[in-house]
Amino acid sequence: MNKRWILTAALMGAFSVLSVASPAAAPQAADRSKVILTPKPGPEPNINGPKVFGVRPGRPFLYRIPCTGERPISFAVKGLPGGLAVDAASGIITGTAPAAAGRYPMTFAARNDKGSAEREFVLVVGDTLALTPPMGWNDWYIHYEGITEKHMREAAETMIASGMADYGYMYVNIDDCWMKKKGETPYRDGKGVILPNAKFPDIKGMVDFIHGKGLRAGLYTSPGPWTCAGYVGSQGYEELDASTFAAWGFDFLKYDWCSYGDTAAGEDREKAMKPYKLMGDILKKQSRDIVYNLCQYGMSNVWEWGGSVGGNCWRTTGDLGNEASDTLPGFLKIGLSNAGHFAQAKPGQWNDPDYILIGWVGNTGEQRPTPLTGDEQYTYMSMWCLMAAPLIFSGDMSKLDDFTLNILCNNEVIEIDQDALGKQGRIIRKTPDEMVMVKELEDGSRAVGLFNLGVTPKDVSISFRDLGFSGKAGVRDLWRQKNLGNFRDTYAARVNPRGVILVRVTK
Ligand code: GLA
Repeated sequence: MNKRWILTAALMGAFSVLSVASPAAAPQAADRSKVILTPKPGPEPNINGPKVFGVRPGRPFLYRIPCTGERPISFAVKGLPGGLAVDAASGIITGTAPAAAGRYPMTFAARNDKGSAEREFVLVVGDTLALTPPMGWNDWYIHYEGITEKHMREAAETMIASGMADYGYMYVNIDDCWMKKKGETPYRDGKGVILPNAKFPDIKGMVDFIHGKGLRAGLYTSPGPWTCAGYVGSQGYEELDASTFAAWGFDFLKYDWCSYGDTAAGEDREKAMKPYKLMGDILKKQSRDIVYNLCQYGMSNVWEWGGSVGGNCWRTTGDLGNEASDTLPGFLKIGLSNAGHFAQAKPGQWNDPDYILIGWVGNTGEQRPTPLTGDEQYTYMSMWCLMAAPLIFSGDMSKLDDFTLNILCNNEVIEIDQDALGKQGRIIRKTPDEMVMVKELEDGSRAVGLFNLGVTPKDVSISFRDLGFSGKAGVRDLWRQKNLGNFRDTYAARVNPRGVILVRVTK
């Protein structure tokens, strides 16, 4: 159990100074590792996104078909179950999920005057949400206490305008600080319904706006009386808050331990599970699907029980933005710690190593571009995808630059994260200087990350035997989206300092 983190989260909360730690100096104009490797998508339609999607029977369904290519694009769905309809111009599917549990295969089709595309998609009606790791944006590491409804609406607009949604990003999530702060009474109305603060004058309207774009909305609360930043929590109001969130239309809840530590110490597993089980059971009863994100910094080995209390993903560590850097950048330390829990990840239940802190990040007054080098950013995204981590960007949506979008929006890299088999990659070799991580994929191929953890260029290799393959195999570079050819028994690449070569190896 990580006492340090509880302390950090509970005491510092919103006031902790962001240190998106990297030993690297602030990026120089000549940071040669900041090369855009991801090819631009073509003008013809190309459909992205997960191939499976879980819903509960009879619940409202909303899904915007992620698709690149020049607009206008005309969308159609073959085999769409009754109760659902697709808007041909936007590709947004709305309606009610089938009442009967089962698998509902369908084919998405997209056409423009440059070409056409199809993609298989299976709606899995049952009890499991988040069959692939959630993708989206969370405001924490850029807005902190300054978050407003306007920021959230603008983020939804940018998720569409930047093209992020065309790659499968769909959750637009408010973190802490949307409710009233300690002392700012009344916290709730006469019936006990929680009141958003003045920066959120129309929270239901905000959710409707996000939904109108075909995106989903998320929010945050704590099982304790106060959130980490000292705002009103849900203790004693769990049922009412969950039904309020559902009535407002929210699709995702982050439930952050924070001041619950005053109610129960975290060492005792039963005590640690209790508030999460309570909310997990309540969420299942709601009239809409709400993806459930546990945030308690990995206490009591949450990866061993997070799924049993209804969690769809659980933070395995303390806050990435607070992780101090010594020999390794903070994200690498967090990532390496998260990597140890590979056995527990599966569809609907993911280890969450925290957000993707790239682009512009930092608290009000200290916002700046990430100090990570380009290579470190490739390493970050590659590790998160190999670990089937939720892909939640938490930098400034209003300052997305081409390099950041290149990291966030490579469909072949994202496909590794979203693979329907739902296995988390595991480290098969690690020394202080290098690491090889391998993820089994649904089609029998393997995604392999060859990482250089050191500060000088290095050759890193993989033996096909370690992938369960023998003889020849095809190797494709996923960041460059380029076939490298067929190789016998082994593949080796020269890797930049703190960089990665991410390949897909197919027998
Ligand atoms: C904790 C969480 C963070 C963030 C803040 C909000 O520190 O771990 O992700 O939600 O609280 O106060």
